[in-house]
Amino acid sequence: MVRLGVNVDHVATLREARKSKLPDPVAAAVMAEMAGAHGIVCHLREDRRHIKDKDLYLLKEMVKTHLNMEMAPTDEMVKIATEVVPDMVTLVPERREELTTEGGLDVIANFEYLHEAIMILRANNIVVSLFIAPEINQIKAAARVKADYVELHTGVYARAENLNTVADELEKIRAMALAASKLGLGVSAGHGLNYQNVREIAAIPQMEELNIGHAIIAKAVMVGMERAVREMLELIR
Ligand code: PXP
Repeated sequence: MVRLGVNVDHVATLREARKSKLPDPVAAAVMAEMAGAHGIVCHLREDRRHIKDKDLYLLKEMVKTHLNMEMAPTDEMVKIATEVVPDMVTLVPERREELTTEGGLDVIANFEYLHEAIMILRANNIVVSLFIAPEINQIKAAARVKADYVELHTGVYARAENLNTVADELEKIRAMALAASKLGLGVSAGHGLNYQNVREIAAIPQMEELNIGHAIIAKAVMVGMERAVREMLELIR
């Protein structure tokens, strides 16, 4: 079965709206796991706008399944990751002004820099995933740079309104999942996935894991974390 990683960033976003203690992303992670999530994802951003260092350390203590830390490939973040030792690090591009991670990493343009970060992380027993657009050149570069996984960016698929574009994007993701798998890379996907568009992505044979945040937290606000996670798990099954 495809694994579900629940991203708890937006629980922290709500907390930070009031700079208070609640809601707590660590408690949310525990509830998501109790509901059957296979992993927890959080993004420690350079500006600490939602998840704080303390949350990450607490998540490392509390998460019993699989902790996936999203981060930019900077010296500061690599150092934190080697201290925390999450199960997986997903390297993502980061720009201060963006609302969320907007594009994939350019593995080709940043090859040496990424290679250095990947080698340090892997030497610390951390599985490394690269968040990239579903493009063949990026996938080939991800294999060359010695990543373990690629997380295919589903943002364009998720935002597409025209049915032909949806079909084209889905086909692209399908083909790139196969290509990545043939190159020996593990395959996951994420960004913009929700209760309406997740099934087709989960049905891709090489897909191992889906990382979903906003849609699950948005539903959890209305119906509770447990139901929000369970309903997503039913769809990806
Ligand atoms: N995967 C990666 C690498 C991301 O950066 C994000 C957004 O934080 C997600 C998955 C989850 O995206 P969404 O919140 O749209 O489900």
